[in-house]
Amino acid sequence: MMKNIAVLVSGGGTNLQALIDAEKSGVIKNGKITCVISSNPNAYALERARQNGIETEVIRRKDYSEFSDYDKALTELLKSKNVDLIVLAGFMTILGHEVISAFENCIINIHPALIPSFCGEGFYGLRVHEAALKKGVKLSGATAHFVNEVCDGGPIIIQKAVEVKEGDTPEILQKRIMEQAEWKILPRAVSLFCQDKIKVKNNIAVISD
Ligand code: GAR
Repeated sequence: MMKNIAVLVSGGGTNLQALIDAEKSGVIKNGKITCVISSNPNAYALERARQNGIETEVIRRKDYSEFSDYDKALTELLKSKNVDLIVLAGFMTILGHEVISAFENCIINIHPALIPSFCGEGFYGLRVHEAALKKGVKLSGATAHFVNEVCDGGPIIIQKAVEVKEGDTPEILQKRIMEQAEWKILPRAVSLFCQDKIKVKNNIAVISD
């Protein structure tokens, strides 16, 4: 059965665009993006969804005083859409226990570094690349992984290394990592999931291709 994919976004949505393009070109097998959910009503990602005829929803953390109510509302929203796979594509709100347990090993995140480097709470967006440059690593990259209760600690599905070059700024490094790694491995991980080719055992993801 074709899997329904919900993509959760907060910003520009270039990873969402990579997923839309991958669906159109057939790189994503057995999956369809059926809805885009944003934590931010002004995210350009919403415009990308609309331009491609994909249903959109907005759910804001700040509209709920208790985190547990937000967590519940997001879980209900995802269940009401009959979602099989949730993709966090630059989604900047941490997920709670309810949604993570309702969709165990069915949530994929893209992180802009080689986990376990430069990850965990506080490491998001440009901050990740600032930290990588500050440390002077010569390779960074991206990681597609399942989401569990440990921030950036779930089973790793695919990683791709990208060279850090002399004179890089966080913006330049971010762009190179997006182009060479994120936009490639995220659609691949999604396609593998949709074809039931990823098995998780003891917190390790094994791919059968
Ligand atoms: C991407 O680089 C993604 O890896 C990162 O935010 C950016 C979103 O860009 N995500 C994180 O840092 C999550 N911790 P996009 O909106 O253009 O896809």
